[in-house]
Amino acid sequence: MTRILLIVGGGIAAYKACELIRLLRRRGYAVRCVMTEGASHFVTPMTLAALSEDQVYTSLWDLKDEAEMGHIQLSRQADLIVIAPATADLLARMAGGIADDLATTLLLATDTPVLAAPAMNVRMWQHAATVRNVAQLRADGITILEPDAGAMACGEFGPGRLPEPDAIAAAVDRMLAPRATPLAGRHVLVTAGPTHEAIDPVRYIANRSSGRQGFAIAGALADLGAAVTLVAGPLTLATPAGVRRVDVVSAADMAAAVERALPADAAVMVAAVADWRVAAAPQKVKKGDAPPALTLTENVDILATLAHGALRPRLVVGFAAETERVVERAIAKRLRKNADWIVANDVSGDVFGGDANTVHLATADGVEHWERMAKDAVARRLAQRIADTLAGA
Ligand code: CTP
Repeated sequence: MTRILLIVGGGIAAYKACELIRLLRRRGYAVRCVMTEGASHFVTPMTLAALSEDQVYTSLWDLKDEAEMGHIQLSRQADLIVIAPATADLLARMAGGIADDLATTLLLATDTPVLAAPAMNVRMWQHAATVRNVAQLRADGITILEPDAGAMACGEFGPGRLPEPDAIAAAVDRMLAPRATPLAGRHVLVTAGPTHEAIDPVRYIANRSSGRQGFAIAGALADLGAAVTLVAGPLTLATPAGVRRVDVVSAADMAAAVERALPADAAVMVAAVADWRVAAAPQKVKKGDAPPALTLTENVDILATLAHGALRPRLVVGFAAETERVVERAIAKRLRKNADWIVANDVSGDVFGGDANTVHLATADGVEHWERMAKDAVARRLAQRIADTLAGA
């Protein structure tokens, strides 16, 4: 039987944990509850014990429990830990690695996947400290649901309400569903982000690439079981789970890192590689009478070199950023660079740094127009397509 450890935090939404236990049990999960001290002011251990038909754990210092069931064991026996409601205080203590009660101690002692459903006042949710803590916890691999927006118990309005119990239960189902890993045993190379081309030791030429689409693709490929090497230009984005990252600065560094990462079954070249480099001055260029003239030299085309090379991956995917004649240019680029597919981005809108993307996929069979969707959704669809193609060939 799949076991869920439910941590109930101290907030007015704790009463919804009762309904959540009922829904989870109806789905066939075994549920064991841990309450924080604050939670016991909103619901009683007796209620949770009756609904879960199991003992409820509240204190780190209950020696009888430590003898029967240590807090480490408590978390390790679970297939998933769910925190509902996850209060601002609980999230802050988790983000800081603090273990000062039973709930936070077992969260620190576990490597079981964790799903947190936050609930708090809207200002608390939007406070810089909470925003920082949520970002940190997500980077640490914890799944945090977005709270619902609406009228709150405290009379204010906005995001901060606990997601409905059936939405939390659906998220539990998703996290526990056996993952399909059609790319297991495949190595996929991804490039992402901008490159920086030095003018002198302090200045460089760059571009506006945020790297988000490339990082999302690397993450989506890893989710499907691929061994992913992500060659990333200068960026501070968090590395997606399960991805091997190689940081580079210039186009020449990126070309060398790509070559070292071969062989690969597929390559997805998302990086906005600088087309030109400057013959960099060894010392800082000083202001003089006239501005200096920069002499640009063309960089090696990493995608074209790879696609024409002896170690060409079976599937080579290039990206194209265009503001006009998007499709026509994608078709030409595919042939010129010997790529199998070109994913053409229409960058005439707010694609750089934005969440959504409108892409067209040019393949040997023609051009597909994908509807505008989140960059994560583009990544998942492309990763699945790559998996299907490698499986079919
Ligand atoms: N690319 C590369 N190495 C380069 C330049 C580009 O690998 N030196 C790859 C990019 O990662 C991307 C594709 O080639 O997959 C983009 O091609 P590019 O010719 O640079 O197209 P755009 O920059 O989109 O447009 P333009 O044709 O205007 O240069």
